[in-house]
Amino acid sequence: MAKKLFIKTFGCQMNVYDSARMADSLASVGYVPSDVPDGADIVVLNTCHIREKAAEKVYSELGRLRELQAEKRETDGGRMLIAVAGCVAQAEGEEILARAPYVDIVLGPQTYHRFPALVEQVLQDDSGPAIDIDFPAEDKFDLLPEESAPQGVSAFLTIQEGCDRFCTFCVVPYTRGAEQSRPVEAIVAEARRLVASGSREITLLGQNVNAFHGLGPDGRDWGLGRLSRCLAAIDGLWRLRYTTSHPRDMDDELIEAHRDVPELMPFLHLPVQSGSDRILAAMNRRHTADEYRRIVDRLRHARPDIALSSDFIVGFPGESDEDFAATLRLVNDVGYVQAYSFKYSARPGTPAASADDHVPEGVRRDRLESLQQLLRAQRDVFNSEQMGKTLPVLIEGEGREDGQLVGRSPFLHPVHFTGPKHRIGYVANIRVNEVLTNSLRGVIAAPTDAIAPVTPRRTLA
Ligand code: 5AD
Ligand code: SF4
Repeated sequence: MAKKLFIKTFGCQMNVYDSARMADSLASVGYVPSDVPDGADIVVLNTCHIREKAAEKVYSELGRLRELQAEKRETDGGRMLIAVAGCVAQAEGEEILARAPYVDIVLGPQTYHRFPALVEQVLQDDSGPAIDIDFPAEDKFDLLPEESAPQGVSAFLTIQEGCDRFCTFCVVPYTRGAEQSRPVEAIVAEARRLVASGSREITLLGQNVNAFHGLGPDGRDWGLGRLSRCLAAIDGLWRLRYTTSHPRDMDDELIEAHRDVPELMPFLHLPVQSGSDRILAAMNRRHTADEYRRIVDRLRHARPDIALSSDFIVGFPGESDEDFAATLRLVNDVGYVQAYSFKYSARPGTPAASADDHVPEGVRRDRLESLQQLLRAQRDVFNSEQMGKTLPVLIEGEGREDGQLVGRSPFLHPVHFTGPKHRIGYVANIRVNEVLTNSLRGVIAAPTDAIAPVTPRRTLA
């Protein structure tokens, strides 16, 4: 009987990708993915350490799993291995075993290729839990098996990991380690496999993805701009996105790619965190608010329809009312179609955590509320502007209602409409006739046979 594997993923898209690769790794030793943790032979929590709330979730989840583990032992005498992977594993290591001694495996993001060996070790030796949070010299990507299951119409591909920027609030440089880019040829090969398995859109992932500088086939380091041009030339790959970026790494080549490469979608997540120069400096972001405004201007010059998204932190230590007002000014100047905003959360080991001018919780809460109000208003304006427009929608699958399909606009809106199932994986021109808070509805723009790839020169693979 096949052994069952259940993976629960927290946090960012990178973890979503990693979970798929862990499943590939365990598939090579006979584990089959399951939709529920009940009765599974291995349960993996792929964790996130970015804010306190995310990290604490792991322990409440572990408490629930402990019961399932006992249940399995009692009902069929079987063993359920519990593994904690991801950034909490990397950051807390042994501490997890101290707080939750029933955990069997703790492994960090750079050692997923060793997962099968750790499982074997725990099952065979019965010598207690296994822990592997190395930053090994070998590259896990060279050692992980190829993808075992297609990702679907829209796929993720990690091209870069880690970060050397050391923003003073952020755990990533510690949990994911130094910045590392994959070689171009490995990325292109993976992209081709994704397209061959039906993917039409690829989102390139990295903690600081636009710092990408992978070794090219010509022996030189390639930036993200050059890589995008190369990937866009793959037949059957119609849409490219990348996330998440640092403003300082938005170089000329990448901005020009936005001008020249139609496959690069006109939606960019470019986190600014704050609009105050004083706070940006304290965060070690190494740019001013005006420098960010100029980058946005250049992007809009290159690709006039580009829509922007960002991350914000409110209540960073020392943030005054004037600093916060500067953030609201920047938001007003730039205009975002979507954003994530967070209250500052002190993370152990980061420089900002030891500051002595922390902002009171009530102030943080109020600032978050007013920022989110403004961001919601901007989103609503942008969404309502889509009314009556015809948007190219990449059809990703069936909707909840009978006969309904769902896809994404270039700006990442989910778009629902009625259409034939066999068109999943195509691009349809959809005329928007209803705007909801987080999605759009529309109809296929006549004539019906206009359902075709967005760039006609590309044919279906
Ligand atoms: N507190 C609050 N938000 C944080 N982020 C990262 N670290 C922290 C922290 N300590 C946010 C940033 C980042 C996003 C992924 O998470 O806005 O861009
Ligand atoms: Fe963290 Fe991003 Fe700053 Fe790197 S650039 S330290 S990942 S916030």
